[in-house]
Amino acid sequence: MLDDRLPLNARTFTDERVSPSESFVEQANVTADDLSAFSGREGWKRAAAFLDWEEEFDRVFEESSGEFFAGGKLNAAANCLDRHLDERKNQRALVWEGQRGECRTYTYLELFREVNAVAAGLRSLGVGQGDAVTLYMPVVPELPVTMLACARLGAPHVVVFAGFSAEALATRMREAESAVLVTCDGYYRRGDAVSLRNRAETACVSLPDDVTTVVVDHLGTATETPERNSHRYNRLRETHAGERVDPVVRESAEELFYIYTSGTTGTPKRVTHTTGGYLSHAAWTSHAVLDIKPADTYWCPADIGWITGHTYVVYGPLALGTTVLLSEAGIDGLSRTKPWELIERHAVDIFYTSPTAVRTFVKAGSEYPDSFDLSSLRLLGTVGEPINLRAWRWLYEHVGGERCPVVDTWWQTETGGHLITTVPGVHEMKPGSAGVPLPGIEAAVLDRDGRPAEAGSGGYLVITEPWPGMARELSRGERWAARDDEAVPDLSAFEWAYPTEDGAVVDETGYITVLGRVDDVLNVSGHRFGTMELESAIVDIEGVAEAAVVDAVREGQRVMDAYVSLTDDATETEMMRETIFDTIEGTIGEFARPARVVFTPELPKTSSGKIVRRVLTDVGSGEEVSDTSAVANPEVVGEIRSSLNIE
Ligand code: WT7
Repeated sequence: MLDDRLPLNARTFTDERVSPSESFVEQANVTADDLSAFSGREGWKRAAAFLDWEEEFDRVFEESSGEFFAGGKLNAAANCLDRHLDERKNQRALVWEGQRGECRTYTYLELFREVNAVAAGLRSLGVGQGDAVTLYMPVVPELPVTMLACARLGAPHVVVFAGFSAEALATRMREAESAVLVTCDGYYRRGDAVSLRNRAETACVSLPDDVTTVVVDHLGTATETPERNSHRYNRLRETHAGERVDPVVRESAEELFYIYTSGTTGTPKRVTHTTGGYLSHAAWTSHAVLDIKPADTYWCPADIGWITGHTYVVYGPLALGTTVLLSEAGIDGLSRTKPWELIERHAVDIFYTSPTAVRTFVKAGSEYPDSFDLSSLRLLGTVGEPINLRAWRWLYEHVGGERCPVVDTWWQTETGGHLITTVPGVHEMKPGSAGVPLPGIEAAVLDRDGRPAEAGSGGYLVITEPWPGMARELSRGERWAARDDEAVPDLSAFEWAYPTEDGAVVDETGYITVLGRVDDVLNVSGHRFGTMELESAIVDIEGVAEAAVVDAVREGQRVMDAYVSLTDDATETEMMRETIFDTIEGTIGEFARPARVVFTPELPKTSSGKIVRRVLTDVGSGEEVSDTSAVANPEVVGEIRSSLNIE
């Protein structure tokens, strides 16, 4: 049963352990003693101590409401800016490299001034505490500036990844009831100018109420905006330059931002992160796991539109007062030499990236990193998916010179920050395995009946104690305990539990190897896609009867394929295939385009009519279909194979 749901795992396991270098251990932020001093729920005081509180909290955890640091009050922007001014006002906070070779830097004082001006501007447009402000921009400095301006005002921001379509933007704005949108004219993507303004306008006209927009002039193509309710970012910021906005003091559990992610339903799901709990978790893990120090230059090329960018590009690093490198081009938009050039030029200390990016580096070849001076690096990290052994080794050797520990951090949009990883100055690394639960985190790998799975055998990864960074939606654990869902084990023995919907294996020493999702969510190249979300877009097309979107592994990379069966009166034409691609790009975005659309007369199903996705994954990966005993119509497997020209 579980085996059937466990995701395909194209990796080999190892029992090899790698110790962190002495040079790293000597200077590490966190030692073994620090870890043993951190125990139980009270231990989280250690995380909260990374912040400045306007009012001290009275309880670490309030059982009845599920709130961390109840009674505490603070402002997130003041924690990322104001409190650093005494010690490091002239230290760089942000160093930004644009797509066209531009470079802009902001010291902490300059960033403080920018954020105040933009906050004053937003306030003049009527933005106040609790008002959701949508941000739809690539990685430009105006994005973190506006996030912090919102945080200063107590207005939750909703950052929508710039690769999303107009329709996806509108869906999120509607759900968040957001009446203010900060966007930009456009950006370059692989050399082509993409207009964001047009997409933003299309989204706004489909919304029931008037939206106030603020447009950043990034490409220099923003024209005068005669329309009512539309403002130019630069004009707004100049008008309010020099103004100060008092940071709005918020309760610990009040929302800092919303972020939308894919779940198992057809619509994106809202995840709410809190001010005190989230920011404490972000700051503490940036210190303990990423080993960030104020004097460091830190680089995480993740797009700010995803949770990694929120927690480990903006909030965690800035709360600690470090220098953050921002690159407008994501790793996939950089040339083969550029990542290494950036690390060398900016003397980057910490590089936090994704396994997908590492595989791209491996493919390009080790001569690229080998020909740059990467000796400034002290720590490497990955996030987003399991890392295969080969990629791990390559990263450790060619980028880290066998001197930098690699932290393989497991977490999710819902968890706010790291939960399972090694602590780099303390634990041995086990390549391919994320590591152990951080102090204060209780994790278990359970079988279907809710009993601990045996060491070495797969099970469901469940977190059994609350933690400060958890999304507000998670505070009531009963929601899952009552759920009758194949992707969730029996949790009745737990008072509180959060089923992560990941499969995992734990070894005799407690190291957890995460295998991937067990629910109907796909993780492809670090992006999360709900199969239902994609499939419902496809079946809305006239002539489509059924669709299944599954993942597969081809040439070592995880890809997404769509299998589609048509109604009797429709024909399998190239035009139909294009319509399917266009529909996905239109409803979600170009980044959700499947690798293949495969027509099939029927989908493989059980006798009760449930699609057997596993079979499609095997076929798409060019593998033998291991077991078709559950499939009521096994002949379709042969038909699909022949339409893929696989013999
Ligand atoms: C899913 C969460 C957390 C920010 C990026 C993705 C997978 C994440 C690891 C890791 C194995 C990982 C899981 C998880 N995942 N990190 N180190 N090892 N798998 O956030 O989009 O919310 O996706 O990413 O499957 O459930 P997300």
